[in-house]
Amino acid sequence: MTIRQTNAPVPEDFEGVRAFYDDAMADNAKVHDLIYPHVFGPDQYIGQFSDNSAEELRLMGWLMQLPAGAKVLDLGCGRGLVAAFLAREMGWDVTGIDLSLASVAAGRAKQHGVELIQGNVYEHDFTHRFDGIYSTGAACHFDAASLFARARALLVPGGRLAIFERIRLGDISAADWRKLTSDWKCPYVYTRDEYSELLTVAGFRVRHVVDTTQQFRVWQARSVEVRHALRGEIVAATSPEYFETSLALAAYEHDVSRDGLLGYATVIAEALP
Ligand SMILES: C[S@@+](CC[C@H](N)C(=O)[O-])C[C@H]1O[C@@H](n2cnc3c(N)ncnc32)[C@H](O)[C@@H]1O
Repeated sequence: MTIRQTNAPVPEDFEGVRAFYDDAMADNAKVHDLIYPHVFGPDQYIGQFSDNSAEELRLMGWLMQLPAGAKVLDLGCGRGLVAAFLAREMGWDVTGIDLSLASVAAGRAKQHGVELIQGNVYEHDFTHRFDGIYSTGAACHFDAASLFARARALLVPGGRLAIFERIRLGDISAADWRKLTSDWKCPYVYTRDEYSELLTVAGFRVRHVVDTTQQFRVWQARSVEVRHALRGEIVAATSPEYFETSLALAAYEHDVSRDGLLGYATVIAEALP
């Protein structure tokens, strides 16, 4: 079924993305580290900024079906904690790349044994191609056709690409579209089918689509509840103003997911020879 979409894409804005994560990083990371062990459960938070528990990330990794030792790129790796987790879980040789200076510096300081590159995935001159590329919560910042063309060029034939990302489920109003695109530095909000079609055009065969929307709605609801419950700790770690900003963002995300506009899915594809 085609989902109506009446709003236009906005251009990619990577200087905006870098500033967005660098400026918000210190406070945002503190809030994440406080609340997400309660949102996902204590053994399910590994420092990820995406809306996926460790179990969901493990499933994505498993569905990529790459052997131990595979060379894998974490595209938009943030602090690199998902990269470190999947390197451990899957036995992969993972490299992470991220635009954000603050995120990469925070990740390197933790010394979790994964190479982290600070740069733009479109511009960085990688020394080899990869057996796999995955991206958790970062694909939203890209025009998908350009991202998939770049990923195809960076993968060996038969290599796997996985994206774990928000998806559009309904026709989004102009006001919500602005919030979900320009305000969050995202060019567009794609449906599962649009991602699959664009992957096919870019030379991939889609192998799996796993819709995690039901679980995403649970995470969104809990992220609001837990913020309220931990108000004192969040204010002490950041500031009263940042608490309000963070709560407003979480409440908005909860509203749009509860109202059936936004969902979440992982799409896994194979690069055709
Ligand atoms: C929501 S965060 C997700 C971080 C990480 N994947 C995680 O799950 O914790 C999205 C990240 O994508 C990065 N990013 C966006 N565009 C990028 C680009 N062109 N090259 C490298 N990183 C990019 C941002 O800097 C940001 O850290």
